[in-house]
Amino acid sequence: MAGIVPLPAATAGPTHPEVHVGGEFTLGRLSEGVVLGLAAVTCVGSQDPVDQALAVAVAKDRPDLEKPQVDSADFDPASPKHRYSLTMVRYFPLEGDDRSDVVVMRGSLEAVMAETNVSRKDKGLLRRNAVWAQAHGWRPLAVATAPVTGRDQVGPFTMQGFVYIGIGPTKPLPNSGPSNWAWVQVWSASLRVQHWINVAAVFTLSCTGYIIMDPFFGPAGGQSADVGFQMGWVRMVHFTVGFLWIVLGLTRVVAAFTSRDRHQRWNEWWPLKSKQDVKYLGEVLGHYALIKNHAPLFLGHNPLQQLTYTAVYLACGVQMFTGLTLFGLYHQTNWFWELMATPAHWVGIPFIRLFHTMMMFCLWAFVIVHVYLAVRADSLERHGGISSMINGGVWLRQGAKPVDAPEIG
Ligand code: HEM
Repeated sequence: MAGIVPLPAATAGPTHPEVHVGGEFTLGRLSEGVVLGLAAVTCVGSQDPVDQALAVAVAKDRPDLEKPQVDSADFDPASPKHRYSLTMVRYFPLEGDDRSDVVVMRGSLEAVMAETNVSRKDKGLLRRNAVWAQAHGWRPLAVATAPVTGRDQVGPFTMQGFVYIGIGPTKPLPNSGPSNWAWVQVWSASLRVQHWINVAAVFTLSCTGYIIMDPFFGPAGGQSADVGFQMGWVRMVHFTVGFLWIVLGLTRVVAAFTSRDRHQRWNEWWPLKSKQDVKYLGEVLGHYALIKNHAPLFLGHNPLQQLTYTAVYLACGVQMFTGLTLFGLYHQTNWFWELMATPAHWVGIPFIRLFHTMMMFCLWAFVIVHVYLAVRADSLERHGGISSMINGGVWLRQGAKPVDAPEIG
């Protein structure tokens, strides 16, 4: 059994030119540099270029840290079956002068996470940082440790973090130093509840509206048969949900002018209040058109989203109005329904019905693009799209400076 063997001086010299170490990400259980030291633990005489690059990084960044190497009896290399290596190391300086016997697990992030009892939050952090590093050309070498509790007995593994490994030409990682993400609460519970009621209402109104437009059930080709009150039920659901949706829309309008939550106020929807706003809109458009590399960062909605949502709110208002016009046609018993039905007398009932139907297809087009962009924001950018409308928060890198919020701490 080997203890700590000091590094031979030669290992601090030139290494494999293609492999670099770009820093470390630690979950904070061990102080900085220790994760790097643990990642560098390897079998004596290893010719692996990653091991050699790690040895150079330790010699450069943590000259105080001895580089432990163990003999092959204490080293179990990674294999296709388990994509991590296991190394038993004695008297490792985990914290300060305290030395412990530990087993170090090093390898693929997903494989190491699967062997450790890592919380959902930490998993999110690790994956976010790994994806961010990979986007800059770096790969994570994950590190976990387990205490040696007795002769041939090892405790549970604890995830510690990872080291960024670059293979081939790599650009330096931006914001070098400890990288992290912050979860920022943005959408209030009432806004989220309204959003999902809207989804249910638009879905129900679309299904029932489509059947009113084209009643595909019942006899075909003009044959007559008794279909009972089927269409009556469909229309009743359409009207009931339609009126509930109008009430919900009215509460949204009231909130836009009275709410203390700035994300619910009307000025959050309108992006063209100053010259600076117009400039931001141009930059966002340039980014979406793949002309500009970077777009200004917004915590809430960016100017293009603001314009889109303003248009969607207006479209919904028009849909409600034309719905009331059609409804008013059957109930012209008082001045209100007479007034509501007036547009149909001006432009004709077929036009209002066509318009009401075309607006439905416009809303569908918006929903398709909206869902695509939300899933994309969740999975590719790891910023939070659909998840933000469930838990109310988005992820931003620490130190990020959104133009509509203070620096993220
Ligand atoms: C997302 C919202 C909505 C969608 C997608 C939608 C869709 C439709 C569609 C496709 C039709 C059939 C048009 C035709 O061919 O005659 C229709 C009819 C109708 N809608 Fe809507 N609608 C919506 C909201 C509303 C609202 C808020 C009201 C008002 C309460 C309303 C009231 C009506 C009425 C009265 C009819 C005519 C029913 C009939 O003639 O039997 N709709 N709707």
